[in-house]
Amino acid sequence: MALTEKMLDRGLRWWSRHGGLAQFHRPAGAAGHVAGWVMGHRSSNVARNRWAAGLLDVRPADRVLEVGCGPGVAVAALAARATRGTVVGVDHSPVMIRQARRRNRAAVRAGRVRLVCTSVEDLAFDAESFDAALAVNTVGMWPDAAVRLREIAGALRPGGRMALVSQPRCAGASAATSAAAAAELSGLLTDAGFEELRTESLDLDPPVACVLGTRPNRA
Ligand SMILES: C[S@@+](CC[C@H](N)C(=O)[O-])C[C@H]1O[C@@H](n2cnc3c(N)ncnc32)[C@H](O)[C@@H]1O
Repeated sequence: MALTEKMLDRGLRWWSRHGGLAQFHRPAGAAGHVAGWVMGHRSSNVARNRWAAGLLDVRPADRVLEVGCGPGVAVAALAARATRGTVVGVDHSPVMIRQARRRNRAAVRAGRVRLVCTSVEDLAFDAESFDAALAVNTVGMWPDAAVRLREIAGALRPGGRMALVSQPRCAGASAATSAAAAAELSGLLTDAGFEELRTESLDLDPPVACVLGTRPNRA
């Protein structure tokens, strides 16, 4: 690990112990800007988001939804794939939506990326309006995650893909913690009606788990 990354990790551990963790749940104010900067620049965070966007198998004309998009790293990676489609990023933090807009300025201007400040509890998308959906390190923060995932399933077309990603950030997190997180995400996707589940892992410390599922074709 590079020296700057090590210092960043140490600083984050200190910040988390002193109440900074809340800033990753709903970044606000100056501390929220710092949290967004960290998420937008920390190499593990950037790698995790780009990797997840790659797993979704996004095609050029796809319409893609990302919930809890934070500073918009995955939005940028998804938009680079959906070159003739659209990417909608949603987050309940105005600070994150501003950072995501800055990071995706050109695609927003071209109408290929839309960033919406709202909670996952208040999503109001038409049925079957997306081909794929993504959520990175955020599902654990949602109220009634199982209900939310059923609602997102309804916004996906039949055959649409969903990817849930987790890299546990609690103190002492290990490969076992990531495996437990993957099992939990699989259970949530199954309960929400997704099928053809598969789990992928990215070799970071701790490993990143991505569980992918498909909305069944039948009604
Ligand atoms: C740990 S950050 C991850 C951000 C981004 N996915 C990433 O990996 O860089 C969690 C994000 O989820 C958002 N979030 C948490 N609960 C939410 C909710 N109920 N509705 C919408 N966004 C939410 C937070 O504002 C925050 O930006």
